[in-house]
Amino acid sequence: MNFPLYRSHIDLAHHYWSLLVKDGDIVIDATCGNGWDSLILAKLNPKILYSIDLQEQAIEKAQVRLSAHLSAQAYEKVQWIHGSHVRFPEEILPGTVKLIVYNLGYLPGGDKSITTLTETTMQSLENGKNLLACGGVISVTCYPGHSEGEREEQAATAFAKSLDPREWSCCYHQWLNRDRCPSLLLIQKISKTEAQRHRGKN
Ligand SMILES: C[S@@+](CC[C@H](N)C(=O)[O-])C[C@H]1O[C@@H](n2cnc3c(N)ncnc32)[C@H](O)[C@@H]1O
Repeated sequence: MNFPLYRSHIDLAHHYWSLLVKDGDIVIDATCGNGWDSLILAKLNPKILYSIDLQEQAIEKAQVRLSAHLSAQAYEKVQWIHGSHVRFPEEILPGTVKLIVYNLGYLPGGDKSITTLTETTMQSLENGKNLLACGGVISVTCYPGHSEGEREEQAATAFAKSLDPREWSCCYHQWLNRDRCPSLLLIQKISKTEAQRHRGKN
């Protein structure tokens, strides 16, 4: 089957990131896992890519993948963080990050009991929001096919809905004719003046 544009929420997310990230941006992969998303992000030529995961096994797999597919120069820009995304490294200053990526759930091919959890995901989103530069985005892929994933999706979309539309642009993509299918939530920090100009056109 040929899909004209996007086959999945992941295709859509990757395309969106490629439009957003410019050379020299600071980018965070908050759920590095097997490194597929980190590889896409590293190829966008960021100044630094922070790749975070709770599981050492995931970081190691991602390191193998990225070292095999990136130049030494691009690989050196990746900062590997074995730990929770609840707290981001202190060296990342508020207002400086272009993109923070969450691909929620458990490590494909790994231990399904180690999954992202609603409480910690929500704390991380709140902390991550303060790190975004103007125009910066939090991208969240949600997996409502399992119960914790459904809770996370509900909490993350409620969080996005609660944000002031003068400062935040939030949208949500879902394939409507696929049951309990994954979704993509995008939360963009916009300036108040941009929001006012946009509303003036409508
Ligand atoms: C769906 S996988 C990510 C897939 C990955 N982005 C890729 O491209 O392969 C979710 C990952 O989140 C990690 N994780 C779960 N809770 C976390 C936390 N609190 N902080 C950081 N990573 C976490 C898991 O260990 C798992 O590797």
